[in-house]
Amino acid sequence: MAQMIHILNGPNLNLLGKRQPEIYGAATLADVQAECSAVAAELGLDCALMQSNHEGEIVEQIHAARDQAAGIIINPAAYTHTSVAILDALNTFDGPVIEVHISQVHKREAFRHHSYVSHRADAVIAGCGTHGYVLAMRQMGALLAK
Ligand code: DQA
Repeated sequence: MAQMIHILNGPNLNLLGKRQPEIYGAATLADVQAECSAVAAELGLDCALMQSNHEGEIVEQIHAARDQAAGIIINPAAYTHTSVAILDALNTFDGPVIEVHISQVHKREAFRHHSYVSHRADAVIAGCGTHGYVLAMRQMGALLAK
């Protein structure tokens, strides 16, 4: 059976494509899902994309990944910069974790420069637009093949 990758997305990313397109681009989360599924199939992986506007729900999704997923790709959105709870949850997960940001957060406001999730992430991709999710999927394939 193909290894499963969970792609978790935090608050406001349900509005991807409509939300500040000058920063986050025109692609929707459904487009991201379709691209990631295609790359996953090419790599012999499976993937499931989730989004929540609620911190506790993202914690629950990470707990579910403990039994269901070989790796996690996560864009925690604004919770990146605030959530010890999401970091703690990721620290209960044994497989690879890749953090994705659509925008180049280090070029933006100072409050976006620190990430709690980066304390756990095995790789961080920022500033590649939604293509960052595809890059993360490819890196996940490389990490799981090791
Ligand atoms: C983001 C960057 C965060 O600072 C912001 O709060 C987001 C999206 C990104 O993908 O660039 O919601 O994670």
